[in-house]
Amino acid sequence: MLRSIFMAVLLVAAGCLTACGDAGQQDKTALEAASRTLSPADGDLAAVYDRSCRSCHTIAATAAPLTGDTAAWAERLDKGMNTLVDNVINGFGGMPPFGMCMDCDPAQFEALIHFMAEGK
Ligand code: HEC
Repeated sequence: MLRSIFMAVLLVAAGCLTACGDAGQQDKTALEAASRTLSPADGDLAAVYDRSCRSCHTIAATAAPLTGDTAAWAERLDKGMNTLVDNVINGFGGMPPFGMCMDCDPAQFEALIHFMAEGK
């Protein structure tokens, strides 16, 4: 069910790349709504996500790449996982150091990044 909603949003987003102009904002709103329905399958990771990453990565106004917005994450992933994990630890742009998870280890950051980039 969630997956089909997510796929529908992706299809709309893909169509929009070629056809839409001013519908970009609407598109962002749909991606944002979809991002809020997503949660890591692993319970421990979900708890960490809920108290840290979720507060920005489901709100377009923060300018954070939205959870499940695979297009936005693709260009981030191009930097390589080690760079992304380092950038979370050190802080990056509007993101505070550790993404507000002071007790997360690099493996958890990596798992959280995979989850947000893939939406599952
Ligand atoms: C206070 C808001 C906030 C929180 C909390 C937050 N982020 Fe972010 N994150 C951002 C913003 C804003 C950006 C985009 C920064 C930019 O591109 O200038 C970002 C970007 C990123 C990036 C891409 C970095 C890059 O090099 O392009 C990763 C990876 C990331 N966040 C992971 C996480 C993880 C993992 C968590 C939870 C542990 C988290 N973030 C929590 C705001 C936040």
